[in-house]
Amino acid sequence: MLMNTNEKTVKNIAVFVSGGGTNLQALIDAQERGEIRNGRIVFVLASNEKAFAIQRAEKAGIEHQVVSRKAYSTSGDYDAAILAALENRNIDLIVLAGFLSILGPSVVEKYRNRIINIHPSLIPLFCGDGFYGKKVHTAVLASGMKVTGATAHFVNEITDGGAIILQKAVPIEQGDNEDILQYRVMRQAEWEILPKAVSLFCEGRIRIEGNHTVILGE
Ligand code: GAR
Repeated sequence: MLMNTNEKTVKNIAVFVSGGGTNLQALIDAQERGEIRNGRIVFVLASNEKAFAIQRAEKAGIEHQVVSRKAYSTSGDYDAAILAALENRNIDLIVLAGFLSILGPSVVEKYRNRIINIHPSLIPLFCGDGFYGKKVHTAVLASGMKVTGATAHFVNEITDGGAIILQKAVPIEQGDNEDILQYRVMRQAEWEILPKAVSLFCEGRIRIEGNHTVILGE
C-alpha cells in the first residue's frame, strides 16, 4: 500500500496516556518550542484517573478526559468509549505516549495509519504482548545486550507490529538497573524521536509503503 500523510491544514493531535506522562511533557515542550510543525495537541485521554500525565495536561491548558479501562468489562466496550470521547474533536493523529491499554480493532481501523506509538526498545526486539514499561528494560538487561533504544512506529492490529518511523539506539552501561536504563532511554531517545515523528506526520513527510516508511525531504 502506498500512502502519504500529506495535507496542509494544521493537524489536531490527541495524546493517550496511562502514567507519569514524561513523553506527553516532551510533546508539550516541543510544541512550545515550535517543533511540532503543522500540528497542535488538542486533547489528552487517560486510561487511569491516577495518571500524573493528567496534571501535565491541566498545567498546559489542554482539554483532557479519563476513560478508565477498569470501568469497562470488555475491550469492545472500551473501544466504543474511546471512539465516543474522540467524536466531534476532528482528531487527525492519535499519539500513544505511555498508553498501556491495548487499542482494539475498531479504533485501529478508524484511525488506520494515524496512530503513533512510542516503545522503549529497538523493535522488533523486546516488544509485543507483555513488553511494556519497565518490563522491557528488565528483559533487555537479562539478555546481556550492550545496546538498546526506542522506536516510534505506526499502530496496527499486531502489538508493536506497525511500520517503524524513527529509532534511536542508546548504550547499556555496566551497573545499569531498570530505573537507570529506563531514564537513559527516555532522555536520550524517546523524548527526542516521539516529537520528531509527530512533527514529520503533521508536516506530511511520512510515506507509508506496506510495513516500511519513507521520510520525505531528508
Ligand atoms: C515509556 O517508557 C514508554 O515508552 C512506555 O511506557 C513509558 C511511559 O512513560 N511505553 C510502553 O512500554 C508501550 N508498550 P511516560 O508515561 O513517562 O511517558
